[in-house]
Amino acid sequence: MCGIVGYIGQKQAYPILLEGLKRLEYRGYDSAGVALQQDHEGRLAVIKAKGRIADLEAMTAGRDLSGTLGIAHTRWATHGAPNDVNAHPHADMSGKLAVVHNGIIENWSALRQLLEQEGVKFRSETDTEVLAHLFARAYKGDLEKAVQEGLREVRGAYGIAVIHADRPDVLVAARNGSPLIIGVGEGEYIVASDASAIIEHTTNVIYLEDREMATLRRDGLRTSTVDAIPTHKEVQQVEWSLEQIEKKCYPHFMLKEIMEQAESLSDSMRGRLDAETGEVVLGGVRDVSKQLTHARRVILTACGTAWHAGLVGEYLFEDIARVQTEVDYASEFRYRNPIIDEGTIVIAISQSGETADTLAAVREAKLKGALCLGIVNVVGSTIARETDAGVYLHCGPEIGVASTKAFTSQLVVLIMTSMYLGRRRHLAPYHAREIIKGLQAVPDLVRHVLKLNDAIRDVAARYKDCPNWLYLGRGYNYPVALEGALKLKEISYVHAEGLPAAEMKHGPIALITEGMPVVFLANKGLQYDKVLSNMEEVRSRGGHIIAVATEGDKEVARLAKHVVSVPDVPEPFQPILNVVPLQLLAYHVAVMRGCAVDKPRNLAKSVTVE
Ligand code: AGP
Repeated sequence: MCGIVGYIGQKQAYPILLEGLKRLEYRGYDSAGVALQQDHEGRLAVIKAKGRIADLEAMTAGRDLSGTLGIAHTRWATHGAPNDVNAHPHADMSGKLAVVHNGIIENWSALRQLLEQEGVKFRSETDTEVLAHLFARAYKGDLEKAVQEGLREVRGAYGIAVIHADRPDVLVAARNGSPLIIGVGEGEYIVASDASAIIEHTTNVIYLEDREMATLRRDGLRTSTVDAIPTHKEVQQVEWSLEQIEKKCYPHFMLKEIMEQAESLSDSMRGRLDAETGEVVLGGVRDVSKQLTHARRVILTACGTAWHAGLVGEYLFEDIARVQTEVDYASEFRYRNPIIDEGTIVIAISQSGETADTLAAVREAKLKGALCLGIVNVVGSTIARETDAGVYLHCGPEIGVASTKAFTSQLVVLIMTSMYLGRRRHLAPYHAREIIKGLQAVPDLVRHVLKLNDAIRDVAARYKDCPNWLYLGRGYNYPVALEGALKLKEISYVHAEGLPAAEMKHGPIALITEGMPVVFLANKGLQYDKVLSNMEEVRSRGGHIIAVATEGDKEVARLAKHVVSVPDVPEPFQPILNVVPLQLLAYHVAVMRGCAVDKPRNLAKSVTVE
């Protein structure tokens, strides 16, 4: 996610801001910028660019970088491609006010229209720029009041820092949903997204709460709610080491990304579900809505984990949208001379948006006249740009090579996309509302499942030295079996195979040996009894069953050596809950085997070559 740094004090701000941005690089970003308050010009010096912080430094060479008040930002694009114009800080039309922002302003589009009607000329495609114009519109000399008034119009998540050329004595910060902390020094304050940008200057910090703000001056600070009700804050000590902070006290990015899935799923759904009407709001496909309505066939294409998401998507699109759907490895699709006819929609799924085979599949599909959508995480990535339309995951940067939170976000985006098609065809509002209710409950259910981490670590300890594993599931859970096996393979280097459970008797059951770990997805559902029979077959041959089952299920407990119980949800939601224990199982086995969890051997985060 984006990184924010602000400084007000006696020292030169620029070196502190830049060092702070470097400390936040681990959060993932695609552009960076700074704004400095320089007394002599009455305007702010704003320097920003797409690319790395080193590129920003190159841009500032020879520039006047004086000033003891400034703000800075590393951007992880959510609205608007990564480029110089969309980089933060964003200024108002006068160039006197600048803001940096982490989060998503949900009603940015309506606010932008309102401001444009008042004559505001926007420069960027970002939601953040709306804030700069709102604060400038309300500014009458008091920056604190201007920010309070501007924020009254805003809905959504923000962590912001704001400065004004005419107010060299004040820095205003506010948060709602995106963390912001304040380092308290001698006659100086540093505002940042997390302590990693502060810790080398001071360990005295103040944590802002949601809907709270701070007005910082060299001689003191004042905190209040964004509705101007004064608050009292205690100065606390930062205990973490820098290394810990970067991974938020997790030992690996992969574990951090597994554990933050309740939040990342909320981010993926934020502003897109209308529980009243049953409507799904997907701005990125609005322009092709008519073609989607008349789609006669959907082809989902991807690689690796994204391909597993596509397999779940096949069930979802046929169940919810009632449209003929198939899934293809991108590497196969691109070479098999696929038949693409009128009404064929090709949907490419890719976290990075740069996977070579998936990109080639998009180009092949377009060559043959298909309408191409992208379900992508990285805004402005090649696949995002080359597809005709799409839906961003908004799950934040995924740094661990093994994909985890991107997978569960792909699943909710596929549910929303299948609903979007369904509502334009036959899906009744009442049914859509039920699905939305189910979706809105998912983050809390994932939070509940994550509490099983310790129990799952115990299972991992029991089987960490086993050389071969099987993962079995049926229906919606068949792709989850494949995904669980892939997770184990790629980070612990143990051989694991995922299969449709019914396939066991067609050969693989010959593999079962005494004590062999066999993971079953055994939730209550359509094929539950069939899965129980498959479990009997494995158990009678000495296999040790590790079952993911519905809470309270006694039958599975009778057959399995170990049971991981998850809440009872309808089949379309089971993959989201079921994959979490499998992610944790793979993670703990890999750690116990001493593997490089975040950077497994031979693997890259994005396979940009064939
Ligand atoms: C999954 O854990 C792997 N890192 C890999 O299979 C990955 O899903 C695949 O390379 C596709 O990447 P993409 O989603 O960025 O296109």
